[in-house]
Amino acid sequence: MAEAETVLRLEGICKSFPGVRALEQVSLELRRGEVHALVGENGAGKSTLMKILSGVYQADAGRILLGGQEVAIRNPREAQEAGISIIFQEFSLIRGFSVADNVFLNREPAGFLGHLDRRAARERTRSLLAEIGIQLPVDRKVEELSVVEQQVVEIVKALSFTASVLIMDEPSAALTDQELGRLFRIIRSLKQRGVTVIYISHMLEEVFQIADRVTVLKDGRVMGTHPAGELTKDGLIRLMVGRQIEDYFPPLGAGGGPELLEVRGLQRTGRLADISFQLRAGEILGLAGMVGSGRNLLARCLLGLEPHDAGEILLRGTRNAARSFRQAMKAGFGYITDDRKALGILGPRSLKENLTIANLQSYLAWGFLRRGREN
Ligand SMILES: Nc1ncnc2c1ncn2[C@@H]1O[C@H](COP(=O)(O)OP(=O)(O)OP(=O)(O)O)[C@@H](O)[C@H]1O
Ligand SMILES: [Mg+2]
Repeated sequence: MAEAETVLRLEGICKSFPGVRALEQVSLELRRGEVHALVGENGAGKSTLMKILSGVYQADAGRILLGGQEVAIRNPREAQEAGISIIFQEFSLIRGFSVADNVFLNREPAGFLGHLDRRAARERTRSLLAEIGIQLPVDRKVEELSVVEQQVVEIVKALSFTASVLIMDEPSAALTDQELGRLFRIIRSLKQRGVTVIYISHMLEEVFQIADRVTVLKDGRVMGTHPAGELTKDGLIRLMVGRQIEDYFPPLGAGGGPELLEVRGLQRTGRLADISFQLRAGEILGLAGMVGSGRNLLARCLLGLEPHDAGEILLRGTRNAARSFRQAMKAGFGYITDDRKALGILGPRSLKENLTIANLQSYLAWGFLRRGREN
């Protein structure tokens, strides 16, 4: 193979937030047509680095070079014009608009007298979809699409800016295995077109499946860039966490504690039928199933967030300890939702406030929030 061509180079990027040094002298070089995985533990700085590259944040120091030339990327529009697009996990699509309208939002191909040329937008969207080998009705509303199809719309939108670098920040988090296969096929066809894909994931199996090279970030520093073929999974984890992998996950306990939770014949007509299981103290119970199989519904029934039609939930032998969510929290249930953006956290609020609101009762005195107790 010919000498790999460098499309983009980051040099000495630094970024601090109040109280946090998010990135420290990060340098990275990306080659044309490669899938470059960016891995690291939570808070390592992956998203921050990508937000700098895509113009969402400004670096405090460092340079970005495109094709050897230093460029200023002051906002997302400038990044897109430079050929750098990012697909966030939380999409920026307008749900009530069609596929084609979303792709050409705010910059529709102008027709006669500058009118939005819908036909041109649809044609262009169709041909971009064909280029990555995906069939999707361009008139379909985005809200009717599956997650992976919405991702496809984001990708096509990026391609419509003639993206040469496409950043995917945890694209697989909400995908089923089948959808992931579809995404990987798209990524491979992007590669063939010479697009460089930066792929962020916590799923190392995926990284080994799709990446050509891997850069490891830890505490805002680059721990190294390696060809994926030269890494083992254990070696990669060691680089990510900076210690031996035996303690990456806590040891699995025997789970032989006293019985804590018992579910007997739980039913929700048409959705859940005759569900029974026991859970002992210290045990981890996995609930597996396809999207729509009722995993979330079952959890929500346990927590009193959804009603059930028959059956019993016993917590420490007490029947129906969780008729409402508030009772469930009081009785000792905790809940971390799968949808942290829509349901889980109040993004603009602080960690402290988020912790308080989950358990507001204990911070209230005569209906007023006692801020002193928050600390
Ligand atoms: N807007 C912000 N304001 C303040 N601190 C921030 C902001 N964005 C990120 N940080 C902090 O910067 C550090 C790096 O965060 P970043 O989101 O880049 O990590 P990450 O590697 O993407 O993590 P994850 O795998 O959880 O997505 C963290 O300590 C984070 O709390
Ligand atoms: Mg992130």
